[in-house]
Amino acid sequence: MSDDSAGTRVSVTPCKGGPLLLRGATEIEDEDGQVHPVVRPVVALCRCYRTESPPWCDSSHKTPRRSAGS
Ligand code: FES
Repeated sequence: MSDDSAGTRVSVTPCKGGPLLLRGATEIEDEDGQVHPVVRPVVALCRCYRTESPPWCDSSHKTPRRSAGS
């Protein structure tokens, strides 16, 4: 998926079981409307909702989930 309507190409690449890799963006807006500047050419956006630093992936998706009752 990509969008270059503003003259800058942005691409999104899903990682299987992990984040979305976002290339070329200058900022992203989270679900609460907070705008986060993007200062690196490639950033990883969490899509598992387990990160400690939303909206960014902190690799928490690699940690095994706890089962109910443990
Ligand atoms: S996708 Fe990596 S912490 Fe959520």
